Amino acid sequence: MLSKKMEQTLNDQVKWEYYSGYLYLAMAAYFEELGLAGFANWMHIQEQEERAHAERFYSFVNERGGRVVLQAIDAPPVKWDSPLAVFQESLAHEQKVTARIGALMDLALKEKDHATAAFLQWFISEQVEEEASVTEVIQKLKLVESTPGGWFMLDKDLALRVFTPPVIP
Ligand code: FEO
Repeated sequence: MLSKKMEQTLNDQVKWEYYSGYLYLAMAAYFEELGLAGFANWMHIQEQEERAHAERFYSFVNERGGRVVLQAIDAPPVKWDSPLAVFQESLAHEQKVTARIGALMDLALKEKDHATAAFLQWFISEQVEEEASVTEVIQKLKLVESTPGGWFMLDKDLALRVFTPPVIP
């Protein structure tokens, strides 16, 4: 059984994961407006992953006898200055998510809630990957910054990303 505090914090995370998806969808819309379909594809896949994360938190609250209470999701930004600015914001966002997952783990350990700690372990590792995949795109964007046509080459690269449903225990 979850403590009330843990139930509330996990519910907050459901909202946070859906917000992450909403943010990536807003980024996809920005890229679609620019005609960068590959960048948009990357963001759509990111959004699907975030939904999978949210659904896993949702299921976990239920499995542990808690009550899911959905919260209002904030509106994401609409515009950015450049593709690089978009990915820099993605990285800053993922770093916040990493800190939230870390705080959740701290709470689970403090409460000796071993089931929640075991559940969160997957998300701890996932955040390492999330930050690494965004950083990889930032590095590529910096490399092509002064190369005419660089965005379009990278666009073709990002078009290849496919959604693989995460296997979350
Ligand atoms: Fe659900 Fe991008 O972390």
